[in-house]
Amino acid sequence: MSAEKMFELKDLKKYFPVKRFLGGKPQYVKAVDGITMDIYKGETFGLVGESGCGKSTLGRTMIRMYDVTGGTVSYKGTDITNATPKDMQQFQNKIQIIFQDPYSSLNPFWNVDEILQEPLKQIGMGEGERKDRIEYLLNKVGMKPDDMVKFPYEFSGGQRQRIGIARALTVNPEFIMCDEPIAALDCSIQAQVVNMLEDLQHEMGLTYLFVSHDLSMMRYISTRIGVMYLGNLVELTESDTLYERPMHPYTKALLSARPVADPKRARANRRIKLVGELPSPLKVPAGCPFAPRCPYATEVCKAERPQLRELEKGHFVACHRAEEITD
Ligand SMILES: Nc1ncnc2c1ncn2[C@@H]1O[C@H](COP(=O)(O)OP(=O)(O)O)[C@@H](O)[C@H]1O
Ligand code: SF4
Ligand SMILES: [Mg+2]
Repeated sequence: MSAEKMFELKDLKKYFPVKRFLGGKPQYVKAVDGITMDIYKGETFGLVGESGCGKSTLGRTMIRMYDVTGGTVSYKGTDITNATPKDMQQFQNKIQIIFQDPYSSLNPFWNVDEILQEPLKQIGMGEGERKDRIEYLLNKVGMKPDDMVKFPYEFSGGQRQRIGIARALTVNPEFIMCDEPIAALDCSIQAQVVNMLEDLQHEMGLTYLFVSHDLSMMRYISTRIGVMYLGNLVELTESDTLYERPMHPYTKALLSARPVADPKRARANRRIKLVGELPSPLKVPAGCPFAPRCPYATEVCKAERPQLRELEKGHFVACHRAEEITD
């Protein structure tokens, strides 16, 4: 991992206004509520947390698909917080997304050849060069030349995700937001897609934001992992450290919820259970957002919002009591 920052977020916020009844106070869903983090060139930054905690919104705000409510975001040293869609056009090819459901992002009336041709035509690439590029891409994602004339509905989920990946790679991106790219796939296919993304990263020097609600695959693909809870980052550290020495009660709960094959480890892992539902993002508790579900919560937790603190080198935790909680 290089020390060159690709993205730099400072206290980034994205609130969505909610329709209100006449005379009521304006209300907001605080989907991203003050996130400070960097993504380094060449790394895979894993972002995990329960569904609805704000992962997709954070990624989309960072790449400026959404307007920013507060804080700042820079891309390779350029402040893009207030960049207009026209300003963002210069980064259009450099920043790409792979979606959970590639079906919704692929034009159903186009065959694979047409899907891959389109972005290349837009950058003015000539016919011969386009043909070579498409052949190269299909080979990279493990598809056959015969697949070029098929339509998205003719493929399985895993094959369709390969088309989605080839589509994202057409114009040599630098950064790809992978938004739950394997969540809809069978377990056996998940590993194939993850391995392919890793190979492509090394070959093409890509940087990834890898979003997932499930921790099981994250250790292998991520360089560092950020754990989100109700619009906040509660823990951020190197991937192995997160699994070996989680410090935030929420991370511990997420890890103990995973199925573990070894019964001894499974017992040791079941110390913290995740109880209760994720509170509504319209009613985020004033102090620690995790307090209503946290077995260690005290008065200070309910009163004061804990900030991310660096408790060991490169290991950030937002918990008042992280040092005291040793189990
Ligand atoms: N376009 C939107 N308008 C209003 N609320 C939204 C919008 N997108 C997301 N939200 C809300 O913001 C919160 C975070 O959503 P999201 O970022 O999709 O979470 P995740 O990706 O972690 O599942 C949720 O409560 C969701 O309902
Ligand atoms: S700050 Fe308090 S409530 Fe929040 S995670 Fe830490 S111990 Fe639990
Ligand atoms: Mg999402």
